[in-house]
Amino acid sequence: MAVRIAHATDIHWTLRPPFRRLASKRLLQQANQIIGRRATHFTRDVQDSLMDHLLDLAPDGLFITGDLTTTALEEEFELARERLEPVLSTIPTLIIPGNHDVYTRRSRSNRRMFQTFGPWMGLDSDAAPVARLDVGDVTLLGLDPTRPHPVLSSGRVPQPQLDALVRQLDGMPERAVVLGLHYPILDRRGELYDGLNHGLLNAGAVQKSLTSASHLPVAILHGHEHHGFTVDLDCGGRTVPIYNSGSSGYANLPIKRRAAAMCVYTIEDGALVDVERYLHTAEGFKPEPGGAYATGR
Ligand SMILES: [Fe+2]
Ligand SMILES: [Fe+2]
Repeated sequence: MAVRIAHATDIHWTLRPPFRRLASKRLLQQANQIIGRRATHFTRDVQDSLMDHLLDLAPDGLFITGDLTTTALEEEFELARERLEPVLSTIPTLIIPGNHDVYTRRSRSNRRMFQTFGPWMGLDSDAAPVARLDVGDVTLLGLDPTRPHPVLSSGRVPQPQLDALVRQLDGMPERAVVLGLHYPILDRRGELYDGLNHGLLNAGAVQKSLTSASHLPVAILHGHEHHGFTVDLDCGGRTVPIYNSGSSGYANLPIKRRAAAMCVYTIEDGALVDVERYLHTAEGFKPEPGGAYATGR
């Protein structure tokens, strides 16, 4: 039986932090928003339209690959939870964190994301190494490379997670696995995305671990880069397609070729058989003209 998995990422519900909570990194983010007008990059209209679109699609499962918030404020998590409620109450969903969801050390130590979205994070406890959600004969697995840093936005997948991932993959050869993580493993040119400032520092180790697995995911999903792209990951002569839908909360800005996007993957008999991509328009989310990733947006 075919299983349809929707993918949304980097929705970035955003609220302005109260003055007293302008921790140094939030201060930088505020300056960034004002100078670079980032606050207008993500709009409530698009975010609401995404929720309507997901309810209309009624997929069998939904994978959200992080950056639900912008500065990990409690109020942003509450807003995200409230807006997602109709979706979470009707669609089996796995949510994994992005770097903006653990923006400050305090948001990490308060376990703010787990407090808000714990039931959808696929972890027995917030110390479990790999997130998991089964949807029919498809299994969604999620890694967490996030770590708060005073300035940098880079991530690193802890080695115990990579070891657990390989064990899990090899332990379910009969199931189709969709792997998600917030960060790209490869950039849009197919090079390792391991830059110090914004990258996945051990992207090479992730590729190496996957290469050592006997059973590979049918697809890898991520976000973090807000313009979508797809590339193939070589795992020792075997290929896994990687999909970044692009930010699902992005405001439309045609002059910069910017539009919110989301994807739907159809998996049948253990194989990925179809990828649909939807872009936000004045009429809501519509199929990408020409097919998934055809527009280059
Ligand atoms: Fe993001
Ligand atoms: Fe990110």
